[in-house]
Amino acid sequence: MIISSSTDYRAAAQKRLPPFLFHYIDGGAYAEHTLRRNVEDLAGVALRQRVLKDMSRLDTGIELFGEKLALPVALSPVGLTGMYARRGEVQAARAADRKGIPFTMSSVSVCPIEEVAPRIQRPMWFQLYVLKDRGFMRNALERAQAAGCTALVFTVDMPVPGARYRDAHSGMSGPHAALRRYVQAATHPRWAWDVGLRGKPHDLGNISAYLGKPTGLADYMGYLGANFDPSISWKDLEWIRDFWKGPMLIKGILDADDARDAVRFGADGIIVSNHGGRQLDGALSSARALPAIADAVKGQIKILADSGVRSGLDVVRMIALGADAAMIGRAYIYALAAQGESGVSHLLDLLEKEIRVAMTLTSVSSIAQITGDLLVRETRP
Ligand SMILES: Cc1cc2nc3c(=O)[nH]c(=O)nc-3n(C[C@H](O)[C@H](O)[C@H](O)COP(=O)(O)O)c2cc1C
Repeated sequence: MIISSSTDYRAAAQKRLPPFLFHYIDGGAYAEHTLRRNVEDLAGVALRQRVLKDMSRLDTGIELFGEKLALPVALSPVGLTGMYARRGEVQAARAADRKGIPFTMSSVSVCPIEEVAPRIQRPMWFQLYVLKDRGFMRNALERAQAAGCTALVFTVDMPVPGARYRDAHSGMSGPHAALRRYVQAATHPRWAWDVGLRGKPHDLGNISAYLGKPTGLADYMGYLGANFDPSISWKDLEWIRDFWKGPMLIKGILDADDARDAVRFGADGIIVSNHGGRQLDGALSSARALPAIADAVKGQIKILADSGVRSGLDVVRMIALGADAAMIGRAYIYALAAQGESGVSHLLDLLEKEIRVAMTLTSVSSIAQITGDLLVRETRP
């Protein structure tokens, strides 16, 4: 199979993964309108082609929170990554490390923080969910800090897990889910050998390390439903801001008023995101939400954006719409599921090439020069 884009990696991942995992990654909330719009709205943003300006020297690097990044890109936190490839968090983190960009570890990862952090050179970022058990939150923050994680990504758009129709059909949840997953695993031998047998323990690594006993993944969706906390408000975040020594980013901002609140709260950054269309179906796409948010807070706080980024061209579009950097989720997960660490490395190389081509053909030689001036106005979402 010839692979030259994240779309190809998606097809390869679908072949390799048992359906319950592929659809868990690929699917979104309800009828998946927001999931589709994330991709379509971004693809509809036209950039002004400019020529004949000597683009032989390009600099794709940026500085973010005192860290140098080779590309204006970070890997978004993705739960259960170790189920898509053997010890998947380690593999993805190594690929990001080699490329010179941050890997963000999800709190609901398979590998615990302590398994990943020593295997990479640059510090990783850590993502935290609001769980009812505040003891877990404190424990996770202490461990992330002890492992040298720099930025904290605090995800606020999941006070309740979104309802995803595909999960019930695929065997991720629903009747006889465990039996259906077992049958699917048995009929996907490459995955069964690589991850099913050699990728153990299949656990929520950070949580079992805290509880001191295996968590297992048999009822993952049930776990999320029982442990996420819908009572969360800005006040509950204050102890975290005081406790966490590094930069703190609020992930899941889609509204200019919430972005202003994040500035008032004292966050260092926001991540404009609708969780990849997995939470509120019908919410704005990130591409559409971003310009108003940038108008409200650009320069006062760092703005990152994800949801819909599938190529280096999309990274440039997000920055032209007002982001300081973009984050990628499914795009790298497809590559990881298809080909492990080397797949993610290849995908990041493709992104770099695509960013360079987009910079050359819009005549910008540095990321700082990517501004709203690059947009063909009538296509701004
Ligand atoms: C399978 C999967 C699991 C995810 N798990 C988490 C998570 O644990 N924490 C979190 O903050 N976001 C999580 N997200 C959301 C991503 O961080 C990111 O916002 C989203 O993937 C961006 O959309 P895109 O992948 O379509 O570009 C997850 C996304 C997917 C696809």
